[in-house]
Amino acid sequence: MTPIFDFTSVPVLETERLRLRPLSHNDADGVMAIFGSPEVLRYLNLPPTDTREKAIGLIDWLAGNFQRQEGIDWGITLRGENDLIGLCGAYAWERGDCHVDLGYHILPGRWGQGYATEAARAVIGWCFDNLDVHRIQADCTDGNQGSEAVLLKCGFRVEGIARESCWEHGRFVDIKHFGLLRREFEQPANIGTVHFSSDTRWVAAGASRAMLPTATRERRVPNQQDQSDFSAAVAHDHLAPDPSTGLHPYREQQRLSRR
Ligand SMILES: CC(C)(COP(=O)(O)OP(=O)(O)OC[C@H]1O[C@@H](n2cnc3c(N)ncnc32)[C@H](O)[C@@H]1OP(=O)(O)O)[C@@H](O)C(=O)NCCC(=O)NCCS
Repeated sequence: MTPIFDFTSVPVLETERLRLRPLSHNDADGVMAIFGSPEVLRYLNLPPTDTREKAIGLIDWLAGNFQRQEGIDWGITLRGENDLIGLCGAYAWERGDCHVDLGYHILPGRWGQGYATEAARAVIGWCFDNLDVHRIQADCTDGNQGSEAVLLKCGFRVEGIARESCWEHGRFVDIKHFGLLRREFEQPANIGTVHFSSDTRWVAAGASRAMLPTATRERRVPNQQDQSDFSAAVAHDHLAPDPSTGLHPYREQQRLSRR
């Protein structure tokens, strides 16, 4: 059965040290501190967000992505605090091809403490559970070693380099493509512990998962039965072609629904 997220509100996710919560206009100063910083912009093709108006524009733009059901963004805070230390989100959700892109940005004074990795793992787990994605993708400028380290720690693999494919700070730069398949993330080492807080809304179900209750719940490391149920579900839904037609039923259903 396909997990479905209803896009009524951004759920709150909690990890060991972090709270991922919806963004609001009250975060304008925090957004400005992050996206106005030259260190953050070093590997991004973005103008600086150096006024409150621009920060509010960015928050509204992200909210528009959510309203159009194309992506979802969280503000990252330390647990028990409200000031932003970063943003993490999923973009460009492709329902037909079952993938979404991952992004994260951390306030420079907070770098190197594992926060991006912790937040990214929570978002990745949430996407696999709620958006029916089969893979998660991420691009980063070749040389952005911090970002590359985050992706590798989350289990991503390098899938290729698009040479001089992006114009960044007055020059063409190489972009490294990364990908993570659902079955790779389900390796216990990649899951970590994510707490889903009581204001989280879930409309999630899957062949290998019980319906997630609304109360705080610790993400389980799948046992052997889960793993085999999961493999069967994946094989049925995404991979195995129908022997009589040679078509992938799920893909075919997606293709027809696009007509
Ligand atoms: C990339 C970014 C999100 C990482 O945030 P972070 O909270 O510092 O990330 P983490 O602490 O979880 O992990 C960073 C890892 O990169 C490593 N790293 C950081 N800079 C590095 C460098 N110059 N060379 C090698 N490794 C580096 C750290 O040592 C750490 O690995 P470790 O845990 O094995 O020691 C942060 O640097 C940032 O916001 N950059 C600007 C925005 C950006 O580039 N976003 C990604 C767009 S693709």
